[in-house]
Amino acid sequence: MPSPAQTEAVPFNPVQYARRGQVGVITVDYPPVNAVGHGVRSGLVAALDAGLADDGADALLIVCAGRTFMAGADIREFGKPSAPPTLPEVVAHLDSATKPVIASIHGTALGGGLEVALACHVRVAVKTAKLGLPEVKLGLLPGAGGTQRLPRLIGATEALDMILSGDPVGAEEALALGLVDAVEDGGSALEAGLRAAERLLANGSSPQPVSTRTGRIACTDPGLFTAKRADLAKRQPHLFSPHRIVDAVEAAVTLPFAEGTARERELFLACMDSPQRAGLIHAFFAEREVAKVPGLPAGTPTRDIRKVGVIGAGTMGGGIAMCFANAGIPVVLVDSAQEGLERGTAAIRRNYEATARKGRLTAAQVDERMALIHPTLSYTELGDADLVVEAAFESMEVKQTIFRRLGETCKPGAILATNTSTLDVDAIAAATGRPQDVLGMHFFSPANVMRLLEVVRGAKTSDTVLATVMALARRIGKVGVAVGVCYGFVGNRILHQRGRESMALVEEGASPEQVDRVLTEFGFPLGHFSMTDLAGIDVGWRIREERRKAGDPEAQAPSWLDTLAERGRYGQKTSAGVYRYEPGSRTPIPDPEVAAVIEEDRRRRGITPRPVSDEEVRERCLYVMVNEAAKILEEGIAARPVDIDAIWLHGYGFPSWRGGLLFWANQEGLGRIAETVQRYDRDIGGPQWRPSALLLKCAAEGRPIGC
Ligand code: 3HC
Repeated sequence: MPSPAQTEAVPFNPVQYARRGQVGVITVDYPPVNAVGHGVRSGLVAALDAGLADDGADALLIVCAGRTFMAGADIREFGKPSAPPTLPEVVAHLDSATKPVIASIHGTALGGGLEVALACHVRVAVKTAKLGLPEVKLGLLPGAGGTQRLPRLIGATEALDMILSGDPVGAEEALALGLVDAVEDGGSALEAGLRAAERLLANGSSPQPVSTRTGRIACTDPGLFTAKRADLAKRQPHLFSPHRIVDAVEAAVTLPFAEGTARERELFLACMDSPQRAGLIHAFFAEREVAKVPGLPAGTPTRDIRKVGVIGAGTMGGGIAMCFANAGIPVVLVDSAQEGLERGTAAIRRNYEATARKGRLTAAQVDERMALIHPTLSYTELGDADLVVEAAFESMEVKQTIFRRLGETCKPGAILATNTSTLDVDAIAAATGRPQDVLGMHFFSPANVMRLLEVVRGAKTSDTVLATVMALARRIGKVGVAVGVCYGFVGNRILHQRGRESMALVEEGASPEQVDRVLTEFGFPLGHFSMTDLAGIDVGWRIREERRKAGDPEAQAPSWLDTLAERGRYGQKTSAGVYRYEPGSRTPIPDPEVAAVIEEDRRRRGITPRPVSDEEVRERCLYVMVNEAAKILEEGIAARPVDIDAIWLHGYGFPSWRGGLLFWANQEGLGRIAETVQRYDRDIGGPQWRPSALLLKCAAEGRPIGC
């Protein structure tokens, strides 16, 4: 091949064309992720035309600058009129190119980005690349030929699995599947692509569009689609796009390419119009938006976190220690008793081994992670920790004692965090003598699994400390959301209101099963009472007892749930709570013993049970949450509606296709919600139904909350 860099670069912004020897190189450079927006689409067409017209170019190569190949269509353009050329037009142009086109992939080739690569005639990837069609996660399906070309390359079964999961595959797996033609170990994507071009030109191969290949789909069993539909109806009954994906892949198998592509377009547009698409895209941006904390300037200096201490080796402390070990950060795990320490570390090992049994960790990785966790009874070993997270018993006295000790033991500049879910972070910070270094890191159970981290900013928490922990949240794979100090912070404060209403509904005549069914029909993975059983009834019971003992006027009177806890029915962990559980099973089974406890409680309170409609359950459980969320915004405990949305999406299983609590509330209609809240305020009363001034104002002005 002639030596590189022979012709002058012809700039196309954000896509450039330049020739390297016999290869015309098309470079997409559109930070941060080379999304295929309008500029990239028209640039690709222009660069392709330039390459096809360039007599010196015998093959064309598409590569991307920066950290990644094209990561998809530009999501920000969705919902707006699409300016030509559309992505299907771009890929059709590539598909029919008269010179062979190679895509060389690094970083992630996702969605529309992978569809561009699928329309090329050859695909190579560097070893670390990942390839996927994540559209389903946005309520969509691949709409630029992905559902038609992927099955032609890797077979319908494998294509369905990839498109329905939305999860990317690594380069080696892509090679094994037939998705890429070669994987290059070492060097840049440009170098890998140029080597592939050299091989191609040496072989004298002519372009072989994927659209013309039928070998992999010829013998597809039609039963595949029936089975997938049945499976989806069971596992994802609420979701719109997965069913359309099955239809589209079936079209790839049963129709000629052009007709299949037209069918894909039709199905794609139906998904685009669905409210689920709007909800899921809101959820996508919410996750990223919360990282930008209002009032915390971008570029605020952060501290290095190289070693972390965790206090308390219970379920929560163990889970928190795992979060850091998973990110390769060494952890000193402190407990006050040897027995607790041993039980805690054994539980962590069991947890890792269970993951290894599922094939998600190797035995060596289990050992590596365990080796990062150093159990000790001695606080002095926390002396060089950069951050200490306390996860001890939920009592102000206990926590203040610990923080006093941390103030004495830890090095200057160490960040001291509490995992309290209810206690006043400022009162805890006051015990340290360095409140500027203190904040809340409120993990959600199980801490190693749940993605939410409420980062509780105390009155004196410094900007540096907040910025450090927000960045750390991302490093350990969490969605960190900054919140202010109040009882229960944001998530649990809202949950508390839903819990109060759920309990009241049962007292009035609903059953726990009815309340849970209405919530799961709404889209929550668990109903309120199943969730209580999972979290452990004893946790809330102890907190309620503490509030009652402290004479808190808002403390709830003992309830049937407290009776269950008194009887040792703590939930799943004791195989009995609001429901009973068969050994080794998490399936809730209604229990006559619980029905009797509820009956007895009603009798004691003089309540005659009445039939409660599903509509009432829905309104009382959900609208009360919206009302509380609006009060949280009024008080500035959460800065923006998006923060509340992210908290409920990532901490409490709010259905992502509904966008989040307040995004959903806006769709539901604030006028309707405000009216209903006022009605319940009149009919039922209680602080939870006192209407939020912000809610009433937005409803009266006919504008969404937060705008
Ligand atoms: N369109 C527009 N903006 C995007 C984008 C996209 N497809 N993907 C990412 N971004 C933005 C993010 O919003 C973020 O913006 P910000 O800095 O202003 O907050 C920025 O790019 C960086 O993104 P991340 O913070 O997520 O960076 P990471 O390095 O952690 O992750 C990624 C990179 C893996 C590419 C991740 O961003 C991602 O998964 N993106 C979405 C990919 C996707 O879903 N593609 C399919 C789109 S739908 C489609 O292609 C339809 C087609 O079939 C027709």
